[in-house]
Amino acid sequence: MANIAISGLNKTYGSFRAVDFIDLNVQEGEFVIVLGPSGCGKTTTLRMLAGFIEPDGGQVILGGRDITYEPPYRRNIGLVFQNYALFPHLTIFENVAFGLRRRGVNHSEITPRVKDALSLVDLSHLTDRLPRQLSGGQQQRVAIARAIAIRPDVLLLDEPLSNLDAKLRLQVRDELRSLQKRLGITTIMVTHDQDEAMSVGDRLVLMRSGRIEQIGSPDDLYNRPANRFVADFIGRTNFLRGRIEKDQAFHSEGGIVLTSASQPPGATEAMIRPEAIRVRSVPEQSGPNAISGTIHGHVFLGGLIELAIDMPGGERITGVISPRELEEAGVKLIPNAPVYISVAPKDVVLL
Ligand SMILES: Nc1ncnc2c1ncn2[C@@H]1O[C@H](COP(=O)(O)OP(=O)(O)OP(=O)(O)O)[C@@H](O)[C@H]1O
Ligand SMILES: [Mg+2]
Repeated sequence: MANIAISGLNKTYGSFRAVDFIDLNVQEGEFVIVLGPSGCGKTTTLRMLAGFIEPDGGQVILGGRDITYEPPYRRNIGLVFQNYALFPHLTIFENVAFGLRRRGVNHSEITPRVKDALSLVDLSHLTDRLPRQLSGGQQQRVAIARAIAIRPDVLLLDEPLSNLDAKLRLQVRDELRSLQKRLGITTIMVTHDQDEAMSVGDRLVLMRSGRIEQIGSPDDLYNRPANRFVADFIGRTNFLRGRIEKDQAFHSEGGIVLTSASQPPGATEAMIRPEAIRVRSVPEQSGPNAISGTIHGHVFLGGLIELAIDMPGGERITGVISPRELEEAGVKLIPNAPVYISVAPKDVVLL
């Protein structure tokens, strides 16, 4: 187990900067998720940490030791990559033993360590099979066992669950999370799946064009995005263009006046998450951010209802509301029916 300190890490391909001077500290035992649009440099970053790509500059310090230019096998880093397949001709046992043999682990220690690793992922009964005799989820668990068998200081996972179907993905994700906590392995994982990021990550790192846009807890990125890109990338949201007027309130282009808990100078957009919208069939007596509109339409989303509401100035706001709340509010889902919405000032984030 170790902390990892990355500073000024960068990589250029020709004239294209794939990773643009990244700084990141990951604490011992922490589970950090890296996410961002395709091509933003996630895999390149992980491969530099693993030692498969040599950086143009910067430093990687693992547990106080500079490993920036160490070869991969001297890093004690466990890897699970989407395309880092199992050896098809080796049994499950031999697949897991491979890294141990390569690292010169004492012969007598290999069997117990392979068995330990396989029992951690619940595969002790399949040691003699070949990879093709396993399901996708089982193969992925072997890959995880192979990575942890070497007792890595750091575990790097690049979209490890993306080949799995939705249900299996959830199961392996939960197993991975509890295993990571139990062993306390410092972990960095890349994923495209936001639910996955929000549910397993202690902290999230959101990248764009080789740079880090924001580092923070899932709550930070969701509720306190650093900028529009972060707000737009994480979850669904309403954006209203406008500006802060002399009355300190935010006035949207369509004439909606919003009070926000914070007024960053020069804000040009208000962000409101759909679930922060409250609806009523009668106007509120008092309180900030009470706005009237009309129902445009609705969509059922499992147990919730997504409601599109037209504002008088031509803007449209989306709310996500439970059927029970709609019923209590007395709102009927009829197009053009009047509806009154409100938003707490803390839920109006100005950007
Ligand atoms: N060997 C290479 N030569 C030239 N360009 C490369 C090379 N490897 C990666 N790139 C470019 O660097 C950028 C970052 O690639 P990277 O694989 O790190 O993206 P990513 O964030 O992992 O994307 P994805 O989500 O699609 O996996 C991309 O624009 C890619 O085309
Ligand atoms: Mg990638």
